[in-house]
Amino acid sequence: MTTEFACVTDLSSPHVQSTIEKAGETIKNGGLVIFPTETVYGLGGNATSDTAAASIYQAKGRPADNPLIIHIANPWDAYQYTYPTPVYDLLASAFMPGPLTVIMKSKDTVPLTVRAGLDTVAVRCPSHPVAQALIRAAGVPIAAPSANISGKPSPTCASHVRDDMDGRVDMILDGGNCEVGLESTIVKIEDDGHLTLLRPGAVTIRDLREVVPHVEIASAVTAMLAEGERVLSPGMKYRHYAPTAPVYLLNGDAVAKCNYIKTHLQSKCAVLCYNEELPYFREMFSSEDIYLLGSQSDLATQAHRLFYLLREADKGGYEAIYAPLPSKEGIGLALYNRMIRAAAYHIVDLI
Ligand code: TXA
Ligand code: MG
Repeated sequence: MTTEFACVTDLSSPHVQSTIEKAGETIKNGGLVIFPTETVYGLGGNATSDTAAASIYQAKGRPADNPLIIHIANPWDAYQYTYPTPVYDLLASAFMPGPLTVIMKSKDTVPLTVRAGLDTVAVRCPSHPVAQALIRAAGVPIAAPSANISGKPSPTCASHVRDDMDGRVDMILDGGNCEVGLESTIVKIEDDGHLTLLRPGAVTIRDLREVVPHVEIASAVTAMLAEGERVLSPGMKYRHYAPTAPVYLLNGDAVAKCNYIKTHLQSKCAVLCYNEELPYFREMFSSEDIYLLGSQSDLATQAHRLFYLLREADKGGYEAIYAPLPSKEGIGLALYNRMIRAAAYHIVDLI
C-alpha cells in the first residue's frame, strides 16, 4: 500500500482543509488514517465498521483481544454508542475535550470487533484541532489505538509514525509534536458509580477525585500482575512501550546511579537522565548517549519527552538503556506506569 503524507499544522489553509476532507472520506469508506492528538498519534478507522476495525488490528500487529478506543468530536455523542450515567456527565463536563478515556456499557451500535467482544467500550473526545476536524469530516466516530507497532512506545511525532507505519495505512497527517506525550488517562465507571483507574495520564487522580471522590487504582497500574490475577484492561497484560534494548530503572541519587552503572557497564549503553544529573553522567557517557528528560521537578516535560527519547535511543543499537525510576506524584504516576513496562519491571533500588 502506498501511504500519502500530508502536513496539517495550518488548519486555516484551504489546502489543509481539503486534505482533512479527503482523510475523513477515506475513514468513512473503510481506509486507515494516522492523525495527531494531544496525547499521542492515533491509527484511525471507521468505528462503526467491523472490517475497518479488523484492518486496524492487522496494520498494528495487535492481538484481537485488545479493544480499541472510539473517538468522538462531542462528548455528548457518547449517548449514541454507550449508556452513560450521571458520573459520565460530570467527567465529560470537567475534562472533555481532553486526555481522558471513559469505559462504559456499550450499545450494539459499536461493532464487537472494535471492543474485542466485551460488553463495554472506551470513549474519548480528543481536544487536538486536527483530531476534532477529522472526526467531523469522517461523520463517524473513529476507532484508534496508538499508531505504533504493537509493543513499541507510542509515537509522538510524525517521523516516529513513519518509522512504524509507512506502507501500512492510507494516509499520515503530520500535526507536529504531541503536547502531552503519553496516552490518555483511562477510567472505568463501575456499577455503583465509583471509578477504577486503569491507565494513568495527564488527567491525574487528584483531578479525578475533585469530580468523583471515589477513585480506585487498579493494581496493575503500579505493579506487575500476580499469577492468576484478573486483568481489568486487556492492554495491561502485554509488554509495552518497550525499545529493543533492555531498560533498567535506577532508583537513587546521581552518584549512586553512576556507581551502579560503572560496575555493570555494557560496551554500548545509553542513559536517560534529568538535567540536574548531567554533570555526573557526562564523565562516563559521550554526549550522544545521554538523553535529557528535562528538569527533575518538571514532570510535564518528562512526560512530553519520554516516548520520543525511548524511540530515539532505540535507534542507537544499545545493549542497555538506564533511566530514572519516576516518582508517583501527579502525572509522575503515568510516567512510572509506562516506565515499569518499558523496563519489563527491572527496577534497581539504590536507596
Ligand atoms: O491517548 C490515547 O488514548 C491514544 C490516542 C490515539 O487517543 N489511544 C490509545 O489507544 O492509547 P490504545 O489502543 O493504544 O490503548 C487503549 C487501551 C488498551 O490498553 C485497551 O486494552 C484499553 O484501552 N481498552 C480499550 N477498551 C477497553 C474496554 N472496553 N475495557 C477495558 N480496557 C479497554
Ligand atoms: Mg497503545
